[in-house]
Amino acid sequence: MTSVWELANAQLRDLAVYEPGKPIEETARELGVDPGTIIKLASNENPLGPSTRALQAMHSALKTAHLYPDGSGFYLRNAIAAKLEVTPENIILGNGSNEVIEFLGHAFLNAGDDVITCQYAFIVYKLLATAFGLRTIETPSPNFQQDLDATLDAITSKTRIIFIPNPNNPTGTLISQSAIDRFMSRVPDKMIVVFDEAYFEFLDDPPDTLRFIRDERNVIVLRTFSKIHGLAGLRIGYAIAPPEITQVLHKTRQPFNVNSVAQAGAIAALDDDAHLRETKRVIDEGRAYLQERFADMHLQFVPAAANFVMVNVGDGCGVFQELLQRKIIVRPLQGYGLPEWVRISVGTMQENEKLIAALREVIRAR
Ligand SMILES: Cc1ncc(COP(=O)(O)O)c(C=O)c1O
Repeated sequence: MTSVWELANAQLRDLAVYEPGKPIEETARELGVDPGTIIKLASNENPLGPSTRALQAMHSALKTAHLYPDGSGFYLRNAIAAKLEVTPENIILGNGSNEVIEFLGHAFLNAGDDVITCQYAFIVYKLLATAFGLRTIETPSPNFQQDLDATLDAITSKTRIIFIPNPNNPTGTLISQSAIDRFMSRVPDKMIVVFDEAYFEFLDDPPDTLRFIRDERNVIVLRTFSKIHGLAGLRIGYAIAPPEITQVLHKTRQPFNVNSVAQAGAIAALDDDAHLRETKRVIDEGRAYLQERFADMHLQFVPAAANFVMVNVGDGCGVFQELLQRKIIVRPLQGYGLPEWVRISVGTMQENEKLIAALREVIRAR
């Protein structure tokens, strides 16, 4: 009998499937415990949950769930554009910003092209390139810091897309405005530069990349409602780009790619400044607490800019398993070539304290 692998695209044979943070329900089933007792610090979600205003809006939106959503996302694109001081034509919505990453592949990648990103970059860029049968050039990240000079050096005649996660996941490191400006003054305009800013709203002094879009450079900025806005389960994100680019991207998307409940929730979440401020306060306080405790425990960590911290625990998979037994889910980083490390999302202070107590126990017993 013919194996389906003889029919499937050859590049899929070696493509590793994306491994998300372990879900609460799966962990609860395996441990035979109530899901409510599990602490998940594995996927950089908002520990406070969605804003109450978003919840109310989503509840109302359910009444029209029998109707297809507004495929163009008119009201949400207008709301985002007003907030960012760009035009609605600059915005395209995705089923999570991950979907926009896929649009980029359909829009710009062809056989033989190269994609560039940094070492330890968010893994989805490489998965995309591999799914399209393309090579990903990963430039070295000394001290885990993205190096845009190395990115410029890596450009080939076949480079189509450069992915710059800022801050990067899982390292949590940030590229400065001056490094971005120097990079943008040198990068050739015949390729697409993508700034992935999933964690933008957690930054105290965020770099401005929208200026390149106002200047009509070939730049795409990715943002999401999954992180500070607390809507990861709804799957909604967006890109900001010059209108010519969003027009191209629109051709690659399904007609109703973003559901109506997510659109309603996102419009309300965008405006809920109190929830955003409170989330940032909790994350700032929790991140400082985790980093201080890691220092006390003599654990090496990478000073972080977003809502997670990468810490060297010696044996990432082993410590992940032992924390799991204590009903805490973190993220081992073996898949990123960092077997000694785990990534820990900042939780509520109570969750952070439980994590630190459990981690102390695990490390002491080793
Ligand atoms: C850097 C980065 N980009 C994009 C995403 C994807 O986010 P979304 O939920 O919008 O697909 C993540 C999620 O972890 C991320 O860390």
